[in-house]
Amino acid sequence: MTKAPPSGAADRSPKAPPSGAADHSNSAPPWWRSAVVYQVYIRSFADGDGDGIGDIAGLRSRLPYLAGLGVDALWITPWYLSPMRDGGYDVADFRTIDPSFGTLPDARAAIAEAHRLGLRVLLDLVPNHVSDQHPWFREALAAGPAGSRSAERARFIFRDGRGPAGTEPPNDWRSNFGGSAWTRVTEADGRPGQWYLHLFAPQQPDLDWTNPEVREEFVAIMRFWFELGVDGFRIDVAHGLAKAEGLPDASGVVPPPVAGKRVEHPHWDRDEVHEIYRTWRALADEYEDPKVFVGEAWVHSPERLARYVRADELHTAFNFDFPVTPWQAERMRSSIDATLRTHRAVGAAPTWVLSNHDTVREVSRYARPQGVGPLLKLDDVLALPADPSRGLRRARAAALLMLALPGGAYIYQGEELGLPEVEDLPDDVLRDPGWELSGHTARGRDGCRVPIPWSGPAPPFGFSPPGARVPPWLPQPASWRELTVAAETGDEGSTLELYRRALALRHEHPALGDGELRWLPAPAGALAFAREPGFACIVNVSAGAVAVPPGTRVLIASGPLTARHRVPQDTAVWVAVGAREETPT
Ligand code: GLC
Repeated sequence: MTKAPPSGAADRSPKAPPSGAADHSNSAPPWWRSAVVYQVYIRSFADGDGDGIGDIAGLRSRLPYLAGLGVDALWITPWYLSPMRDGGYDVADFRTIDPSFGTLPDARAAIAEAHRLGLRVLLDLVPNHVSDQHPWFREALAAGPAGSRSAERARFIFRDGRGPAGTEPPNDWRSNFGGSAWTRVTEADGRPGQWYLHLFAPQQPDLDWTNPEVREEFVAIMRFWFELGVDGFRIDVAHGLAKAEGLPDASGVVPPPVAGKRVEHPHWDRDEVHEIYRTWRALADEYEDPKVFVGEAWVHSPERLARYVRADELHTAFNFDFPVTPWQAERMRSSIDATLRTHRAVGAAPTWVLSNHDTVREVSRYARPQGVGPLLKLDDVLALPADPSRGLRRARAAALLMLALPGGAYIYQGEELGLPEVEDLPDDVLRDPGWELSGHTARGRDGCRVPIPWSGPAPPFGFSPPGARVPPWLPQPASWRELTVAAETGDEGSTLELYRRALALRHEHPALGDGELRWLPAPAGALAFAREPGFACIVNVSAGAVAVPPGTRVLIASGPLTARHRVPQDTAVWVAVGAREETPT
């Protein structure tokens, strides 16, 4: 049995010490049930060598910032060798760092330094597909038509085409980025050959998870990184690994998330996928300081999500019902209730998230009229009128709501600065594969991936070192001079200081993190809940100004209260209950 060395993380938290040594007492809940994890989209976080691309050197230089922010852990998006056809989610070698990001010794040093600062480290595991430059796929192509039943092709999903000459794709599945999910290969003799499946870009061939060799390889990859000290993995496309036997047509079955009754889909959220996660959980539990998983599973409902976090499967899974829920009190409350209920039923802690590198930033979503749709894609919001200051007010209130709810939370880099989506990137800088694959109809996800502004009055805003000759890989808006870390630091009204205070309070307050909530009476359009001991959160979504409950003291507010000490619209407060009442001023 593998016993990992303790990570050596410092003890920073009174509630859930991120110490490397396992806590064998039965009383302390595991750290990940309450953790706040910061998502580092490495390409856009910090550029250490001046080539306009974020890298490990940049990340290392900013680790003290992350420790100071008050998060418990980092999730680093793929840093492995990759042709970067999908921002690194097309992996050519899981055991090598892409040269644009650094080297394996750099990665090892970053993990060790994060641990010294008390930060756990999660990496991104991409098990659904690899890059077409991965040695396995090259071998599969080289195996040739005679090798259509070969061990090399059997790691992927190769099939003959339909029609007399095999000119039609094997079924009607669609790529997530647009077009057919099948591409026909040209065999070594120059003749058109079989087709291979790719649920994403053609450069991302899907692996066949019924193949034991595939399963063994991913266990080996995980062990490799666990031995290097990483604390766990975020599982990319966790709902996609299992495909229906015989690969039947989808025949118009709409993929999640959709409202209404769930219909079984031939490749999303199939029941067969869970057996894979049971074997992974057993692997994670082998370690003395058990390793942790967070699943990216876009599913139909909180009920379906909870199946991924049953006691012997993934520890946590992003709750995407929360970011697709409009800023409307009733809808928000019922989404929160459904998440709490379904997670409680399987003994799991919910994982709250407002955005990530695939979604429109929440400041820009909340700036739009609410209730018209999920607004996660740029094309969904572009046509709608925007009220940016309202978007920011709501995003700040949503942050206090998220951080007060039971369970863990993820913060996407730049969220703590209140960054909006960059909605007007010129066509020629767009890199998201969806832009090309949709025939220039979907603008894609680059607008939430613009490099982080750290300091200074003009681009690159400290993202790259002084004197860098190459500009950031995506252009930063000039208006971000007011949203740099340096500009927001020390400004009491800034979003950064709001996050810092909220995270510090969350660490100190025994009521926050894992646990339960109790709804309190609130006027229509507002949410109020209590957490024990002695804490309440009030969110005014759309009501007239709401009174701060009597006998409470305001700990933090997402915006100014009214002159009569009431909570205005689009504002949230945390209050200490049973403390001295604050006198209205
Ligand atoms: C996940 C990633 C996304 C990527 C896709 C394919 O959804 O978050 O960025 O494009 O998987 O790997």
